[in-house]
Order: sequence, then C-alpha cells, then structure tokens
Amino acid sequence: MTKKESDIINCDFQAETAIFEIQSYLGAIEKNSSLFEEKNFDKRIEAIDFIEFQVIGQIEDLLRKTDQLILLKYRAEKVKSELEEIDINLFKTLQANIRTKGYTGKEFQNLVNEYVDFNLDYKEHQDETGYDNLDVFINGLSPLQTMPEQTKDLEPEMVFYQKTPARIVFELVEKAHIVKEDVFFDLGSGLGQVVNLVNLLTGITVKGIEFEPAFCDYARDCAAGLNLHNVTFINVDARKADYSEGTIFFMFTPFKGEMLQEVLEILRKESLLRKIKIITYGPCTAQVALQRWLDFETPYDNNMYKLVMFSSL
Ligand SMILES: C[S@@+](CC[C@H](N)C(=O)[O-])C[C@H]1O[C@@H](n2cnc3c(N)ncnc32)[C@H](O)[C@@H]1O
Repeated sequence: MTKKESDIINCDFQAETAIFEIQSYLGAIEKNSSLFEEKNFDKRIEAIDFIEFQVIGQIEDLLRKTDQLILLKYRAEKVKSELEEIDINLFKTLQANIRTKGYTGKEFQNLVNEYVDFNLDYKEHQDETGYDNLDVFINGLSPLQTMPEQTKDLEPEMVFYQKTPARIVFELVEKAHIVKEDVFFDLGSGLGQVVNLVNLLTGITVKGIEFEPAFCDYARDCAAGLNLHNVTFINVDARKADYSEGTIFFMFTPFKGEMLQEVLEILRKESLLRKIKIITYGPCTAQVALQRWLDFETPYDNNMYKLVMFSSL
C-alpha cells in the first residue's frame, strides 16, 4: 500500500471514530435525566460547555474537512471533463480523417498504434473476455454512441448481443492470412463493430448477418458515417442468409445447439463449392471443433476465450 492510500484509510478511520465518539457523548447527555431537572444547574452548565466546545467543535472540524473534500471533488470533476473534452475532439478529428481520407489497411493500423499501446502476444494469454483501452479507442471512432433498443425477442437458442473485444478482431486479421479477394462474414453481427473493423484493417469486402433490425440499421449508419466501402449489413436470420460469396466466416457465439448445427450444415454445403475458413470465439468453439469437415488451423485447448481458426477439408 502506498503512503497516500494509507493516509486516506487513516483519515477515513479517524473521521469514523470521531463520529462514533460524538454519537456516544450526545447519547449519554440525552439519557442523563438529572441534567433536565431544574435544580442541577451546575451539571447543566458543564454539559452545555461540553456540547459547545467539544461536541460542536468536533463537528465543525469534520464539516471543514467535508468542505475541503467537496472542493477536491469539484477539482477532480473539472480536470476529468477537460481530459474527456480532448478525447471528444480527438475522435471527431479521427472520424473526419477516416471519412475523407479513407484510411484502411496499414494506414488504419498505424493510426491506432499512434494512440494505443497494445501487444497481441501478451493479450493472447488472457483467458476471459474483457475490454481494454483498445476497445475504448475503437468505440470512440464510432460515429454513433448510443445503443439502440432491441425490437425483436430472441429465440431460445439465439445469444444476446455482446461485443467481441477489439484485440480479438486485430488478432483475427493478423492470423487469418486474409487476401484481397476474401469476403468476410460475421454471423450475428450485432452493432457491426467486427465487420467495420475488419474492413478498416484490411479493406476487403465484409458482410454482417443480423437478426435484430435495429442493430443492423445502427451498424449501417456507423459504416456510412465513416464512409466505408464494400460493407453490407443484412437483416436476416442466419439460417436463411445467402453465403455464396463468403470465404471467411466469423462467429462470436451468435447461437447454440441445433440452430448452430443447422447453420454449420449450410456452411458445410458451401465448403463443397470452395475452400472456406471458419473463425470462432466463445463457447460455440466447442461445437464447431466437433465438425469432421473442418481442420484446425490454430491449436485448440478448450479455452473458449481464445480465437480458433478452422478451414474446410
Ligand atoms: C454475441 S453477439 C455477437 C455480436 C458481434 N458479432 C460482435 O462480436 O460484436 C450475438 C449476435 O447474434 C445475433 N443473433 C442471434 N441469433 C441470430 C440468428 N439466428 N441470425 C442472425 N443473428 C443472430 C444477436 O442478435 C446478437 O447481436
């Protein structure tokens, strides 16, 4: 523990002890019925003095500290909002640059590296989902900031919206050996972050398949707000989607059980026409790993929060 931390804890402890003392002094005076009998003038004078100089004095001392704390809180809030203002302006500028200058591929990666210090090797060893500064940065680049209301109820095997951590999308792009002819699909694309980010990082054609229309609209608006090219969001149940152009299919556990099996069967049929890659993250990996028509491209050690890549045989 640092000296500052132990000072704060000591200060807290002293304040609590003082409040406890004041409560017991007042309690004792209130309960002492003799003080309320007219004849006990002397005792009463002592009690009044004690209340004035000890009790009220101590309370005023505490209140002075509270005033200082309130001032400190205002100061902290002021400096926090000054720092936040810098980020608001930074993201406005970066969004405008992406929109007008069309940063994609290496240019976009360099732009991110300018502001966020991240190390993929280190992050790879994290064994649970969890968001970090890279997510805060990527969220800041989104022209829309308020999550839309869902308009449809999910069926039992459909999984609710949760964002893939941005570092996982960077890892995907680094390891998937993507070529410019590839067409990337995100099955259950949610608010579109994976799709838009893969497009920004690679410039390839990307498509999001999403059951919830409000999510699809939001994702489209984000892509349009950044003037991204070759990005499409299709509002359709993944069991009914057209995958005929796809070569890489990503799933952050959008559905499970029979629904997942049904979609995997559609993808298996696609794989008879051309070689495809399937990339998974989250609990769905265990079920995908059982498909005999798929080969592991990356090792799988039952860690569901590790990106796993498969290719069709
Ligand atoms: C865990 S989230 C993943 C979101 C997104 N892929 C990401 O990583 O940021 C799962 C998404 O799948 C969508 N979903 C669930 N079942 C679906 C289905 N049958 N067809 C299309 N989308 C579905 C949900 O609405 C939700 O947005």
